[in-house]
Amino acid sequence: MIRLGVNVDHVATVRQARRAAVPDPVEAALLAEKAGADGITVHLREDRRHIQERDVELMRRRLGTKLNLEMAVTPAMVALAEKLRPDDACFVPEKRAELTTEGGLDVAANKQKILEAVKRLQDRGIHVSLFIDPERSQIEASKEVDAHAVEIHTGTYCNAAETEREKERDAVAAAAALAHNLGLEVHGGHGLDYDNVPPIATIPEIVELNIGHSIIARAIIVGIEQAVREMKQLLAKARG
Ligand code: PXP
Repeated sequence: MIRLGVNVDHVATVRQARRAAVPDPVEAALLAEKAGADGITVHLREDRRHIQERDVELMRRRLGTKLNLEMAVTPAMVALAEKLRPDDACFVPEKRAELTTEGGLDVAANKQKILEAVKRLQDRGIHVSLFIDPERSQIEASKEVDAHAVEIHTGTYCNAAETEREKERDAVAAAAALAHNLGLEVHGGHGLDYDNVPPIATIPEIVELNIGHSIIARAIIVGIEQAVREMKQLLAKARG
């Protein structure tokens, strides 16, 4: 069975919009586990725009599945990950102005830096994956820097026009086969939703998908009726 990692960053985005205590991404993560999530993914960004260090600490203690920490390859983040000790870490490129992670990590052009960071975390027992575009050079470089896994960026497939979809899906499938043959574990993610996920989930080498936006977006829609009903009941009760 393919594993589902649920990314709960957006829960923290709503909380941070008010610098409030709710919604709590830890509570959301625990409920996601209850619903069958095989792991929880969070991106601790350098600007701390959503997930905070404390969220990661609490999840580390309270999750029953596994915690996957997405992070930039910087000395500060590597030191923090050594301290926080997630089960898995996924190195991603990070730009301050971006709305979400844009391209994959350029492993081929930054081999030495990535090799050292991978080694530091793997020495602590943390499995490291590298978020990369579905390109041969990046997969081969990921193997050279001794990563445990690659997470193949599915964003181009997800954003492709109908006529280009199959070609982009084939590129992900070819990348997955190559990575698997090199002995890398294969994950996938970015932009996946309830419509576009099936063709990716059928790629046999992919053992894990990390999905955030579409699940949190759906949670808001399927949960809003109950939330409004509860408030209406409370107001009615207050008036006797
Ligand atoms: N995988 C990685 C490496 C990501 O950076 C993200 C976004 O944080 C995701 C998966 C999840 O993407 P989405 O929110 O589009 O499902």
